[in-house]
Amino acid sequence: MLNKFKRNIISSKSNIIFLSITSFLFLFLFGLFFRLSFSSIVAASIFFLLFNLILLYLVGGQRNKELDSIKDVISRIRTHSVNFDNEISLGSELEELEIEIKAMFLRSQNDIQNLKKLEQIRTEFLGNVSHELRTPIFAIQGYIETLLDGALDDRLVNRTFLQKANQHTINLNNLLNDLIDISMIESGEMKMSFRYFNVSEFFDSVLNEFKPQAVKKNIELQLLPFNHSLQLFGDKQRLKQAISNLLMNALKYTESGSIKIGVYEEENGAVIFVMDSGIGISKNDLERIFERFYRVDKERSRDLGGTGLGLAIVKHIVEAHGSIIEVKSEIGKGSKFSFRLKK
Ligand SMILES: Nc1ncnc2c1ncn2[C@@H]1O[C@H](COP(=O)(O)OP(=O)(O)OP(=O)(O)O)[C@@H](O)[C@H]1O
Ligand SMILES: [Mg+2]
Repeated sequence: MLNKFKRNIISSKSNIIFLSITSFLFLFLFGLFFRLSFSSIVAASIFFLLFNLILLYLVGGQRNKELDSIKDVISRIRTHSVNFDNEISLGSELEELEIEIKAMFLRSQNDIQNLKKLEQIRTEFLGNVSHELRTPIFAIQGYIETLLDGALDDRLVNRTFLQKANQHTINLNNLLNDLIDISMIESGEMKMSFRYFNVSEFFDSVLNEFKPQAVKKNIELQLLPFNHSLQLFGDKQRLKQAISNLLMNALKYTESGSIKIGVYEEENGAVIFVMDSGIGISKNDLERIFERFYRVDKERSRDLGGTGLGLAIVKHIVEAHGSIIEVKSEIGKGSKFSFRLKK
């Protein structure tokens, strides 16, 4: 009881000083004004003092109750005993504080979830990278060991084994370049240089690189007619990388038919597209093809030297141009990838 009294009074100690001074001044002036005797002023002072103490005891008690409930809520949040915001309650007098604490709780819950998601993405990414690195390294190791074990002198296989090992080193190099690109884009380190460029010249230089592969696969590679003086705004070098990735896919995933590339103008910009008559992509896969390392047919893609990073890079480059990459596709009929650029 005595402790509770002390605690309540201490809780309201800032009010004690104020009340004591004002009471004393009031009594002093009151006594002077009514010419009261010294003993009546002392009696009145004692009465006021007791009255103040009782008042402060009650005020302090209420304050302690409120502080205890706030302390309790904070400690429950800190020890993760609160799962939902409606478990937080401070009563009607502290309604505004309750709303603030609830908002803070929801915010920190959201931050924790985001951190967990990031951690999971990081772990998955590391797992994927090590897996993708292991495949070509094991293959190269296997060919070299076989050659050292005697195949080097076997004229029938030695060249083929070296060629295969060489192809795996090329794949390894491509993978590393893609990984460097992805990490530079995601960390914001990749410097973009936006300028107006001539679309006709741009398409010519990209297509020239792919013509031999198209001829080899007997696929028609066609540039659809457009306004040859058209200028668009973007980073030409990065856009070349994006279009090359799209063309590389079109060539990889088309067995026969054609690949069409073109541009159509709109009021403030233009849409660039790459269209193929290849195997197409199912609706479920369409939602995931832009994820890092995602491949519809892992075996087929890996055989073709793919790691599933190509479209993730395209997406990043297009988004760095303030645009979005769109895709329409139907199984067995082909795919069309497109994005807008500013004029
Ligand atoms: N034009 C296309 N036609 C059919 N499927 C496609 C096409 N483009 C992409 N895909 C599918 O989307 C997946 C992801 O493509 P992405 O370019 O990211 O990876 P990849 O081509 O497998 O490997 P990488 O580009 O890293 O060499 C591919 O594995 C393929 O299954
Ligand atoms: Mg690709």
